[in-house]
Amino acid sequence: MSLLNVSELHVHFPASTSWLGMRSRWLKAVNGVSLNLEQGEILGLVGESGSGKSSLGKAILCLNETHGGKIVFDGTDVTAGKRGDIQRLRHETAMIFQDPYTALNPRLSVGETLREVLQIQRKCPPERIVERVEELLRLVGLPVEIASRKPQSLSGGQCQRVGIARALAVEPRLIVADECISALDVSIQGQIINLLLELRQRINLTLLFISHDLSVIRRICDRVAVMYMGQIIEEGPVEAIFNHPLHPYTAALISAIPQLDPSQALPPHPLPGEPPSPMQLPAGCTFHSRCRYAQSVCANTQPPTRYLKSRRYSCVLEETQFKN
Ligand SMILES: Nc1ncnc2c1ncn2[C@@H]1O[C@H](COP(=O)(O)OP(=O)(O)O)[C@@H](O)[C@H]1O
Ligand SMILES: [Mg+2]
Repeated sequence: MSLLNVSELHVHFPASTSWLGMRSRWLKAVNGVSLNLEQGEILGLVGESGSGKSSLGKAILCLNETHGGKIVFDGTDVTAGKRGDIQRLRHETAMIFQDPYTALNPRLSVGETLREVLQIQRKCPPERIVERVEELLRLVGLPVEIASRKPQSLSGGQCQRVGIARALAVEPRLIVADECISALDVSIQGQIINLLLELRQRINLTLLFISHDLSVIRRICDRVAVMYMGQIIEEGPVEAIFNHPLHPYTAALISAIPQLDPSQALPPHPLPGEPPSPMQLPAGCTFHSRCRYAQSVCANTQPPTRYLKSRRYSCVLEETQFKN
């Protein structure tokens, strides 16, 4: 059984209301996403800014309201709204947020932040809490003296590591890591990546790793899902996708990485033109307006999802028609 199974998930945000207040418009941040995560697996989630990655990550942990679809965590449908099920989800999962400063409570010292989690989640007996806080700080490479400091006196990198320590304090089975190393120095990025990989080995940690850095994705993920306008347009094993993308959008992302510099992140606009407005999604394939292979059918018909061994992609093109 998979640890996480998401099917046809939708997340909408109210975008604006007309002047009569009658008709509110909705922004479809996540628009029918399905994905699966096995225990111990690392799934990368990539896509341009605004494609819905953070909204999806938060929705999976029930931190965002959903508007259709199902999230099954460890055999339990957490979208059914039972309080006990959501509490168990909170107990067994954690999120590492994108922005290290806003993710921490500015009034609490680092030590208090970690103690609070350990107490609320009852992860360790009261007499062991001090020791466990020190252990967590060491685990993420922070000096134990930092426990008495408040977030505003720390660097971005230190804050991010406190965020990671807080996530680990939960001893989660699933972590959603949202751009959790993008703001860090390369050497610290390496340390955090090694730490996550080690945890996977040691506690069979399952990770949804959101990042725009394709080289990091390639290094640590087993599989990768590519998101565009709230949908997953391609998904499969990392090496298969990097070596032989099947969706024209994935191909454009990958071909935009300069060959000589594998550490290059995703360019802000890997393709000519802007993505369409998420408030007015086009009919047909959401990518057709920027696709060099678009046919007339793409403008008004949803592309089929094609399954091919352990991968899938949504496009009218068959594998044999696609020339990179
Ligand atoms: N709380 C919110 N309220 C309204 N719109 C939001 C909110 N959060 C995200 N959005 C919108 O949803 C879309 C997807 O955003 P997001 O999930 O943050 O994408 P990504 O993480 O891929 O950059 C964007 O158009 C963004 O402006
Ligand atoms: Mg984001």
